[in-house]
Amino acid sequence: MKQTEQWTNRLGFILAAAGSAIGLGAIWKFPYIVGTSGGGAFFLVFLLFTLGVGLPLLLAEFVIGRSTQQEAISAYKTIAPGTRWHWVGRLGVVCSFILLSFYSVVGGWILIYFIRALTGQIIGMQYEHVFEQVISDPLGAVGAQLAFLLIAAWVVARGVEKGIEAANKYMMPALFLLFIAMVIRSLTLDGAMEGVLFFLTPDFSEITSESILYAMGQSFFALSVGNSVMVTYSSYLNRNENLVRSAGSIVGLSLLVALLAGLAIFPAVFALGMEPTQGPGLLFVVLPSVFAQIPLGGLFFLMFLALFLFATLTSAFSLLEIIVASLAKGNEQKRKRMAWIVGLAIFVCGVPSALSFGLLDDVRLFDKSIFDAADFLVSNIMLPLGALLIAVFVPLKIKRETLVRELRATTSLGRRLFAVWLLLIKYVSPIAIIFVFLHSFGVFD
Ligand code: PFF
Repeated sequence: MKQTEQWTNRLGFILAAAGSAIGLGAIWKFPYIVGTSGGGAFFLVFLLFTLGVGLPLLLAEFVIGRSTQQEAISAYKTIAPGTRWHWVGRLGVVCSFILLSFYSVVGGWILIYFIRALTGQIIGMQYEHVFEQVISDPLGAVGAQLAFLLIAAWVVARGVEKGIEAANKYMMPALFLLFIAMVIRSLTLDGAMEGVLFFLTPDFSEITSESILYAMGQSFFALSVGNSVMVTYSSYLNRNENLVRSAGSIVGLSLLVALLAGLAIFPAVFALGMEPTQGPGLLFVVLPSVFAQIPLGGLFFLMFLALFLFATLTSAFSLLEIIVASLAKGNEQKRKRMAWIVGLAIFVCGVPSALSFGLLDDVRLFDKSIFDAADFLVSNIMLPLGALLIAVFVPLKIKRETLVRELRATTSLGRRLFAVWLLLIKYVSPIAIIFVFLHSFGVFD
């Protein structure tokens, strides 16, 4: 069945797709890696991969979705009927399920912090202790994970336009405004420059094969490509909209946010003489102690949490949407039901991840906690595999005329860019992805 739902306009689509892309990857992992892996030099490498690998893959997913106007699994079936290519869509659906099962754990922590910050129960306390307590408390962690997933299910159940688009329309501009306020606050602190230098000073000697491979992996993780989420999102896009321009805006916004994140975090951390760290430690331990020392810090910390909450939620919508759309296939009643059922199923499967910092912290899978094992499976195996298959599928199974039509490659500049895109998809992306894979399996260690 053809999709019945559509984005109201191009902006709705861009905000939703940018909302999917901008998430924990860009704002709590990436800035730290930039800071410790060569600053501006690493940023340049990342930029290169984002434009050379991430962006071409994003366009490939857009072509699959928009040309068929079908959700992820049906889209592959329509283009290559009677073949097994629809397994790429299924892989994306399963990958999104697992991804959301642990993404929602972090979403839950942010929710707990937000509520605690709102009621004045964070600033001025023993931050490490608070964090330990939040992640190891089984009822709290699981309850917050459930609450986070219920919010996502509620939005997705309302539909593409009234749910996902409407939520992104408020959350994404709010995220940008909050970020800009944070950057201004951070940069105007005494000693802020040191943080800017830590983040951006180019140091080419820090660029190792490890950081190059990381930049590659991150370039498609941070654009949400590889699990066909963007196939489903672009299937709701009107045929007249320009895909290349939309993809350019989405990539531009994601890069901007990664930059803003670094400029909001490091100047504040350095101005107060703290040690930067990545991930949970940065958001939940370092930042509260930084904000405790700044005038109006409590308010700014609350803003930071709101911003993180928006970023994680808008990514969660896309992960839930690809699964729900694959089951509902355009049936609105079914969508409503499926959003809740899938949300609850993800919750049930995600409970072990939520408990892996407390009750289940001795359980090891391949030498990792349950949470880390799920993350590794998704980020290092399923997403790169999906991306590789998409890079093979598009030039192999989609007719050249369709590609030209979808990408509007009719002007002379358009034709030249099209040739570059094809080259990147056919050769550069697969080779880059295979390197990421080999690295994940320790071949270069
Ligand atoms: N892009 C998200 C982030 O950087 O946090 C993660 C993600 C969301 C990956 C949705 C893939 C996806 F389909």
